[in-house]
Amino acid sequence: MITRNAYAKINLGLEITGRRDDGYHDLVSVMQIVDLHDTLTFEEDDTEITVECDYPILAAEGKNNLVWRAARLLQETAQVGKGARIQLTKAIPMSAGLGGGSSDAAATLSGLGELWGISLPKREMHNLAALLGSDVPFFLEGTTGLIEGRGERVMQLPPIPMGFAVLVCPPFHVPRKTERLYGSLDRQDMSNGIITRQLAAAIRRGEFPTASLQFNAFERAAYRVFEGLDDVRQQVIRAGGDEVRLSGSGPTLYVLYPQSQESKATALHEALKAEGLRVFLAGLVREL
Ligand code: C5P
Repeated sequence: MITRNAYAKINLGLEITGRRDDGYHDLVSVMQIVDLHDTLTFEEDDTEITVECDYPILAAEGKNNLVWRAARLLQETAQVGKGARIQLTKAIPMSAGLGGGSSDAAATLSGLGELWGISLPKREMHNLAALLGSDVPFFLEGTTGLIEGRGERVMQLPPIPMGFAVLVCPPFHVPRKTERLYGSLDRQDMSNGIITRQLAAAIRRGEFPTASLQFNAFERAAYRVFEGLDDVRQQVIRAGGDEVRLSGSGPTLYVLYPQSQESKATALHEALKAEGLRVFLAGLVREL
């Protein structure tokens, strides 16, 4: 049996630079892996692929589930004559802007690659990942990356200095969330990527991300689409979190702290937990 942890990400910066002819958007983003993770186990089976999940919504997706599709794509591409039993245990909130589904898909490509003894060239694994979703290629590489194009161009950045993210995950559910949020962007939300490239340059110099370089193009749209999100933001500020940021297209909000402010991060986490919010104190991952 093979086990893989599928880690969540936050977007330290996310700029949308334009709309493309294929319906997608070009972006420039810095993504960072955090230590909140789902767990997947893989066992060999005859020819069938089955996915069991502790989350009824995902279990009900059947062959539409991204883990199942990742497994099938690898099985077909590498012409594997075997199947697999996959067990998925969720911890990352779904449709939250934390990349949980994409990370599960990447972990499936990597876990089944090992289980089935497949050695596809890295480039080909990367292409399979991009077929499954725009964010999936990043998760094959981790841990801090500068992402461009539709999401498929991933450049590794050096690990950022140690720190924490307090993740606040409000229970807002919007059908076809990512598509809807991209569809809510207009010209004023688009920019040329310069702030996020400056963020990447600061990380290359070994600096901890500063709030002024953490821009997210979805902020305006997210506070409109997720009713009540601004109340949650105010609640986080009242509890002591001063620089509140959105992850991906939301609705997760986070506050970033360097290692030297661990006690502040812990205090914010405790305070928000006591108020009944779904909140995680996650470490920034420097190495997988
Ligand atoms: O690639 P993925 O399946 O995750 O994308 C979901 C939806 O998000 C797409 O159908 C598209 O509407 C939108 N999207 C986009 N530009 C991107 C990534 C996603 O417009 N770079």
